[in-house]
Amino acid sequence: RRLSRDPATSQPLAYLRLRRAIRNVVEHRDIEPGQALPSERDLSRLLQLSRVTVRKAISGLVEEGLLNQRHGAGTFVAERIIKPMSRLTSFTEDLRARGLNPRSEFSERVIGEVTPEESMALNLSPGVLVARLHRVRYAKEEPLAIERSVVPASILPDPTIVQDSLYQVLEALGARPRRALQRLRAVSLGAQQARLLHVPAGSAGLNIERRSFLDDGRVVEFTTSWYRGDIYDFVAELQTD
Ligand code: GLP
Repeated sequence: RRLSRDPATSQPLAYLRLRRAIRNVVEHRDIEPGQALPSERDLSRLLQLSRVTVRKAISGLVEEGLLNQRHGAGTFVAERIIKPMSRLTSFTEDLRARGLNPRSEFSERVIGEVTPEESMALNLSPGVLVARLHRVRYAKEEPLAIERSVVPASILPDPTIVQDSLYQVLEALGARPRRALQRLRAVSLGAQQARLLHVPAGSAGLNIERRSFLDDGRVVEFTTSWYRGDIYDFVAELQTD
């Protein structure tokens, strides 16, 4: 429905417009995760675009992880969350891009003195104050990740202003992370983590540590996360030197 309303044209950038239109459809859940897209042939007929244009738009979205293709069966809206590793995006942005509605439940939002471990991770002097955020992150009722973030209080003096997105608040404070180092390791989720994530104890998880920086080199956040291994795929583009 939406696709036919989008003024996809036969201009040179038609595939980019079609790509945007398909993304809209997915974001608005006009086609649900796991459901099939119309066939390439139907799309090209319906939208009066060449098959090449349609294929190009779709293959871009497959690479991004928004769609997946099953040989012989067609193109589907992806059910797993496929996260490109090279982009510095937030949980909220990743979920919204997939038409999902992110939500957080906080168990802690406090200011405290930096621990020795945190002071090393954030490159802060002992005794300095930090904001600590502990939360479970959901898409609707489905828990996807547990996150513990530490941010220097000089950047985030009042952690209770973070209701949903930490990065949105940082952006508003003029401290949006520009660069990050991230470590990802496989873990099996302990009893407590598994309970929070609604999976059996011992399930596969991904432990991610992210240290983000401002342009001037200051560390903005040190976040440790546990993502559900049954939902997330982390993908990266590789290049030769
Ligand atoms: C991801 C990262 C975290 C980051 C978070 C911010 O989950 N792993 O390091 O803190 O995004 O997300 P949001 O802005 O939705 O709070």
